[in-house]
Amino acid sequence: MSSPDPTRPLEGRVALVTGAGRGIGRAEALALAAAGARVVVNDLGGAEGGVGSSQGPAQDVAQEIREAGGEAVANTDSVAEWASAQRVVASAVESFGRLDIVVNNAGIVRHQMIEEIDEADFDATIAVNLKGTFAICRHAIPVLRAGGYGRIINTASNQWAAPIGNAHYAASKGGVTSLTYDLAFELQPDGITVNAVAPFALTRMTADAGARDADLQARGLMGATRAAVKEPRADPSLVAPMVVYLASDAAAEISGRVFRVGGPKIGIYGHPSEERTVFRDETDGPWPYDQLAALLPRTLLAGGASRAPHLR
Ligand SMILES: NC(=O)c1ccc[n+]([C@@H]2O[C@H](COP(=O)([O-])OP(=O)(O)OC[C@H]3O[C@@H](n4cnc5c(N)ncnc54)[C@H](O)[C@@H]3O)[C@@H](O)[C@H]2O)c1
Repeated sequence: MSSPDPTRPLEGRVALVTGAGRGIGRAEALALAAAGARVVVNDLGGAEGGVGSSQGPAQDVAQEIREAGGEAVANTDSVAEWASAQRVVASAVESFGRLDIVVNNAGIVRHQMIEEIDEADFDATIAVNLKGTFAICRHAIPVLRAGGYGRIINTASNQWAAPIGNAHYAASKGGVTSLTYDLAFELQPDGITVNAVAPFALTRMTADAGARDADLQARGLMGATRAAVKEPRADPSLVAPMVVYLASDAAAEISGRVFRVGGPKIGIYGHPSEERTVFRDETDGPWPYDQLAALLPRTLLAGGASRAPHLR
């Protein structure tokens, strides 16, 4: 189904974008449609923290795509429950007869430090960001396999590796990253690729980011080095071309990768790996406490025992 028109590399493909009624997902849906894909625009339409719902955002973006000459349908089911995630995937098959590209973008954040987070905050964050991504993958993969083409692009966050509070959100995005690595491995024999973007863009989710960073600095939780890392948040449309590329034939060999994408920048994360090792003769039994206390600071932990100061 490779398209001869380089401006429409996704001609004939069907794409699903979750959380596509606003922000980064909207930009991705518009870009996928402009590249020739028929698009399911999914969005529950709730508030930033995941409360409420509205059909408006998904319907507006689907309409915007159709007015630009593309093909799109709106779907307003939540990704966060198993059965409704199944309906999201089914809407692609019912509307367009197949599914080729899945962009798991729907996400919520509740800006909280650990002692402000209660069980409901934790459950809601994990349900949308991690379970929602998992459930859409789980229902979409048989459809991708049957169609003989598959591109899954998940949405992680730099909070996977460089936290700034929001521990529930960071944990959910760490889960998305591990899910990406695992599915890339499992689906390789089928030629289905699985990657993630850790985006940065100016949306309602980041509108107050400057004030929150200033607050972290005032509390001594964000040092000058971290604060000086300049990633100016720009329009979400600057994230979308990378997603189009990862969805295309040209990206067939790229899988299990996490990209930092936004503004003028595209970066790639290294894979977490074991850096150093110490061994003990198994016949000598378990490590004695005093030996560990003496050995580890000058071997495994040489150069710095705590990760936290380096995050600052
Ligand atoms: N904006 C950034 O700089 C940034 C940084 C890191 C990660 N992200 C991630 O990018 C993604 C998009 O974020 P954004 O900044 O565009 O935020 P946004 O709030 O503008 O958009 C998120 C969309 O997801 C939808 N959504 C929420 N729960 C849903 C559910 N259960 N089912 C279906 N749709 C649902 C919302 O209605 C909303 O339209 C998120 O996963 C977010 O965590 C964004």
